[in-house]
Amino acid sequence: MSEPTSRRKDAHLDLCATGEVEPAGASTLFAQVSLVHDALPDLAVEDIDLGTRWMGKRLRAPLLITGMTGGSDRAGKVNRELAAAAEKCGIAFGLGSQRAMSESATWAESYRVRDVAPNTLLLGNIGLIQAQKLGPKGCLGLMDRVGADGLCLHLNPAQELTQPEGDRDFRGGLELVRALASELGEKLVVKETGCGISPQVARRLVSAGVRNIDVSGAGGTSWVRVEALRADRQAARLGEEMAAWGIPTAAATASVARAVGGKAMVIAAGGIRSGLEIAKALALGADLAGAALPVFRAQQAGGQAGAEREIEHLVQGLVRALLLTGSRNVAELRKKPRVVSGELSNWIGSLAEVP
Ligand SMILES: Cc1cc2nc3c(=O)[nH]c(=O)nc-3n(C[C@H](O)[C@H](O)[C@H](O)COP(=O)(O)O)c2cc1C
Repeated sequence: MSEPTSRRKDAHLDLCATGEVEPAGASTLFAQVSLVHDALPDLAVEDIDLGTRWMGKRLRAPLLITGMTGGSDRAGKVNRELAAAAEKCGIAFGLGSQRAMSESATWAESYRVRDVAPNTLLLGNIGLIQAQKLGPKGCLGLMDRVGADGLCLHLNPAQELTQPEGDRDFRGGLELVRALASELGEKLVVKETGCGISPQVARRLVSAGVRNIDVSGAGGTSWVRVEALRADRQAARLGEEMAAWGIPTAAATASVARAVGGKAMVIAAGGIRSGLEIAKALALGADLAGAALPVFRAQQAGGQAGAEREIEHLVQGLVRALLLTGSRNVAELRKKPRVVSGELSNWIGSLAEVP
């Protein structure tokens, strides 16, 4: 990867650290889910069990720091501090796109986290177009080079279209997914990056052999907005028009969980900012929840300790939500009543009408 591309990685981090990357016009719609209060829970905090198994590893809570970065010295520090925080807190951690190290060995160091996160469920990451160039064996190699337990394949057509130098040809995606699923099996995660996975796409993914889907929906970090902030006037205007584009995370989570019917793990991400929202996502059918921006910002403000505090904040909020719904664990939470209102109810109903 060229030096200017590495600088672009840092520009992305700068924009995400302080910029308005969460458009006000987009919403996860989690505000339209209410869990029902149990005034008489027959439980103590210590009874709450958040433990989850994923890819053969045990997580202390069903939580993942979703992939963000790599490919510059600054990115390397972010990866190491976040991975160390994930190790300490017992949650999963995703590296950002490994495109940089696939193009130049110089940047491999910025993805090296296994020494600080020896037990963590670690995920590699590559984009669809790059994966097409590398082929399934090349993708497997990327995973092995960082000692990852799995690999996230990210889909980001809206971001690419907003980037003046981005890709314009997205043909052959499902074929590649099928080839990758046959090579990686349960180690493959297919994820969006903030525009969401629809139940229709989820069914195509499952039929191609995918067993883990991260819906990364709208309402949190918008990559269209990030690219619009970097673009020249013409591209910025087009990008800004689409800044709120995407399926709200709550709608994607509920619809995808229903569509895959247990044939794939569903990860709810995109705008998850509290333990209560994680509880709502789990109640809607997610198996795990993921967050990127808030953990990154906490790391920027307070290093590894700051990231750990943010993760603990999310976990404690989740514990409270379980206790106050009278749920000992996620399986019990799913059986509790919940109220889905307004626009979210419309989204879920409309998405269910199309096979
Ligand atoms: C700084 C930053 C960098 C990101 N880079 C990647 C990436 O390289 N690959 C990827 O799959 N997703 C990437 N994402 C997307 C996240 O993994 C996630 O899907 C999305 O941001 C929604 O989560 P959030 O609203 O909690 O940030 C990035 C997100 C952030 C904030």
